[in-house]
Amino acid sequence: MASLDISSVLQGGYQHPLSRSWQAKRTLTKGMLMYPIFITDDPDAHVEIPSLPGQARWGVNKLEEFIGPLVQKGLKSVILFGVPLKAPKDPKGTPADDVEGPVILAIKKLRALYPDLYIATDVCLCEYTSHGHCGILNEDGSINSAPSAARIAEVALAYARAGAHCVAPSDMMDGRIKAIKRALIDNGFGNRCTLMSYSAKFASALYGPFRDAAGSAPSFGNRKCYQLPPQAKGLARRAIQRDVNEGADIIMVKPALPYLDVIQDAAELAPDHPLACYQVSGEYAMVVAGARAGVYDLRTMAFETCESMLRAGCTLILTYFTPQFLDWLDE
Ligand code: PBG
Ligand code: ZN
Repeated sequence: MASLDISSVLQGGYQHPLSRSWQAKRTLTKGMLMYPIFITDDPDAHVEIPSLPGQARWGVNKLEEFIGPLVQKGLKSVILFGVPLKAPKDPKGTPADDVEGPVILAIKKLRALYPDLYIATDVCLCEYTSHGHCGILNEDGSINSAPSAARIAEVALAYARAGAHCVAPSDMMDGRIKAIKRALIDNGFGNRCTLMSYSAKFASALYGPFRDAAGSAPSFGNRKCYQLPPQAKGLARRAIQRDVNEGADIIMVKPALPYLDVIQDAAELAPDHPLACYQVSGEYAMVVAGARAGVYDLRTMAFETCESMLRAGCTLILTYFTPQFLDWLDE
């Protein structure tokens, strides 16, 4: 019988579940998961989101019922998205930093209820502007960059003042990282609030369910003038480097699974920063739909997607699967 060369035999290295686990450079833990949650301005709301199975819009009075059991299971961090249904929207997104608005009330409530929970807030204007775009517009509908960055910084500062541990601008306006960092430092939050930049955020079809959930679809046009073209590897690298230079504490790539090469680039370009990726609403919905159609086992696929993100280099994952992972990681 012809024997295999020594150099041909790999299977001896991973024949046992434990030795298979040693093949990973980084293993998924509860601390790596950040859970995106939607807070609306009806304080008693608990409204399921049909396009995001298992996710809902919550009112501030329901946060304890929603988050308490997850904290018990080891939830470490959340990222808040505001969904104003009553507040009058305007061109500047005035309700974004209303001190009686759902995000600021939720920050305070969660800080009081769960002192160890890490609270990040998405910072954007699209949920609050009458036109549904992420910045402030010129008369011809184009982005007016300077006032956009200034307004985003104002909103970020309001969330920091309310007690957010982290502000995370998702707007993709030029200059906003520098403007936010400056505002945080000048107001005494330089050492008290983390700045996580959605640096390489692509114009993706995968945000569909989120826009349903948050009511943030633009009323005209699209977001291609500020979100990156999906084929833009070079621009993504430039955006990552820019945000590192402008003072971001954490870099994010979004969406995640179709952009693993960009995650790997970010890990190389910002090796000394934590690196986040966002498994966005459409990615989550796709994994759930495939499982429901019998294509694969949900849990196996959820792990496979997130482990591929870790393999590409991320150290933190924003995912709607967080509640399920808290159970799965205990099994
Ligand atoms: C708003 C924002 C979006 C997402 C996060 N912040 C939507 C968009 O940019 O259109 C997407 C999140 C998801 O799909 O889960 N700026
Ligand atoms: Zn936006």
